[in-house]
Amino acid sequence: MGQCEQLASDLDDASVETARRRLLRWYDEEHRPLPWRTNPSPYRTVVSEFMLQQTQVATALLFFEPFVEKFPSFAALASASEEDVLRAWSGLGYYRRARMLKRAAEAIVRRHGGNLPATREELAALPGFGPYTVGAVGSIALNLVLPLVDGNVRRVLGRMMAMDQDLTTGAGRRRLWAVCERLVDPVRPGDFNQGLMELGATVCLPREPLCLVCPLYDLCRARSAGMPEDFPRAAARPALQRVREVAVALMRNGKVLVLRRGESGAFAGMWELPRLDSRELLEAGELTPERVLFDLVRIRPTAAQNIGTSRSIFTHHRIATDLYRAESADGEPIRRQRHVAHKWVSPRSLDALPASRAQRKLFELLKLS
Ligand code: ADE
Repeated sequence: MGQCEQLASDLDDASVETARRRLLRWYDEEHRPLPWRTNPSPYRTVVSEFMLQQTQVATALLFFEPFVEKFPSFAALASASEEDVLRAWSGLGYYRRARMLKRAAEAIVRRHGGNLPATREELAALPGFGPYTVGAVGSIALNLVLPLVDGNVRRVLGRMMAMDQDLTTGAGRRRLWAVCERLVDPVRPGDFNQGLMELGATVCLPREPLCLVCPLYDLCRARSAGMPEDFPRAAARPALQRVREVAVALMRNGKVLVLRRGESGAFAGMWELPRLDSRELLEAGELTPERVLFDLVRIRPTAAQNIGTSRSIFTHHRIATDLYRAESADGEPIRRQRHVAHKWVSPRSLDALPASRAQRKLFELLKLS
């Protein structure tokens, strides 16, 4: 089947009209009063959509108001230091988003005088604005008639049309975007898109969906076949790989050594204790605190003592980090590999550094030791 025929068989005109009407009515009555909805502005929409790209609403809620209070406009965000922005993002994860958000704010100030541009093309030219963000920001903040697809939308529509294929790549992805393009309400695109996402988040749940209260109940093919949970077909997930890591709190005169990561790769621009994991040892040998310090900063500590283990998950890895405390009387760090700065700070002031959630757990272990 070609893409046009596929689309015609997915959706007839009457179903499109019905789906729009029912979804909008449901959204008007049932949507959660989230701060970027009850008190909207283009800036708040952009910040919320960057936060929500890989984060659930419940988590984003903890960070949203403090963030927009600290950086109240595109101009404020553009002129802030990257370190301040990363600090306000600390704990939200996927820190690349924060750097891209700041870069988008800089482009909005430079190219558009500090106001969000009003066309799809100009939005798509901003840093960090992929198809999802263009659709979300364009439809919600500017009322542009643009589709969007995220994980919730994929589940809602994959079920409604009982799409029997992997929807995360290739033809399945294109089919889903085509359906959304056809379906999005031409008068209230932002509410329609938020309605689809909201339905996925609160009713069309991954397990045990609440079909009896769904506004799309009688339009849903997976439901009428009696097996909504079988859709969309799950793509195989890679298993979590176990990784052991060693981190060191290297102390000198009551202060601890922290390193700042370079501008690219994971955790770019963030601070951390020296650490290496078992996959990073280039030469054979044991992963020890001495080895970590020597490889990363060329310092030899006095005896290191284990003060605890912390667990975290990062992409497809389940990481167990053994934290050691060691002392070093002299020698300045010679940074190698991935770090661009270092400093000695009091354990109390670790909390003020931009750092990942996994690092914050290590900071807590150190303070307890
Ligand atoms: N997920 C991402 N953006 C959202 C929004 N605006 N409403 C509901 N869920 C979302």
